[in-house]
Amino acid sequence: MSTTLAGKVAFVTGASRGIGAAVARSLVAEGVKVGLASRSGDDLGLESAIGVPCDVSDPAQVDAAVAATVERFGRLDILVANAGVGAYGPFLDLSPAHLEEMIDVNLKGTIYAVRAALPHLLRSGEADIVTLASEAGRRGLPGEAVYCASKFGQVGFTRALDGELREHGVRCTNVCPGGVATDFALDEGRGRSREVLSGMMTAEDVAEVVMFTLTRSRNHRILETALRPMSEASWG
Ligand SMILES: NC(=O)c1ccc[n+]([C@@H]2O[C@H](COP(=O)([O-])OP(=O)(O)OC[C@H]3O[C@@H](n4cnc5c(N)ncnc54)[C@H](OP(=O)(O)O)[C@@H]3O)[C@@H](O)[C@H]2O)c1
Repeated sequence: MSTTLAGKVAFVTGASRGIGAAVARSLVAEGVKVGLASRSGDDLGLESAIGVPCDVSDPAQVDAAVAATVERFGRLDILVANAGVGAYGPFLDLSPAHLEEMIDVNLKGTIYAVRAALPHLLRSGEADIVTLASEAGRRGLPGEAVYCASKFGQVGFTRALDGELREHGVRCTNVCPGGVATDFALDEGRGRSREVLSGMMTAEDVAEVVMFTLTRSRNHRILETALRPMSEASWG
């Protein structure tokens, strides 16, 4: 059984492009009003959405962006903690700036978003937190030590929250994709070319999985989903 999302309000971080933008578009198509948080504050031209400029590594900015969403739409039912950055390579070659950014944006940014959103989600009574983690939050991958640390951190944080929030009607889900064809996959530090994108999943593939978890009947919850492109091995 699935439930409708119409009339709900969501806050999506990293919503200006990639997976976050695909999730935001899917939510709006289902009648959800959405606060779209990113540093650029892009509103994607979506009618039932507002763009809220916000660097998720700054808790004050996250608080303000959640507050702006609730002020505009009156409530909050769904948090999609998606903003993320990554740099790959041998551990000792990782610059201090990349190290800090991955922990600050991926891990602390998720924690700040939950802290800002949770009082509102608890008032909803039928709420969801979806964390965009990664396969790198399930396995230790060579060349991705700090990215993995940030993603394992997100997974552990969201799992622990499930233990606290289930009885309050807040479901907590980790979504753990493998390679997705977005700007992220080509970002600084990865040394990839555009050709690798063709074998990857699309942002829309991931958005469909997010929407599946959000629309499950309220009598159960999905704790974790792992999805990988057919071009990638599962490593056991
Ligand atoms: N692509 C993959 O292969 C893959 C696989 C597994 C998991 N993931 C995870 O999925 C999530 C989304 O990745 P993606 O592939 O969609 O990446 P993307 O296309 O690079 O988009 C990243 C989004 O995050 C925002 N962002 C970056 N830093 C931010 C900050 N400090 N504060 C607020 N927003 C920030 C960006 O907007 P602005 O630049 O406007 O701030 C953008 O909207 C990430 O958590 C990533 O780790 C990706």
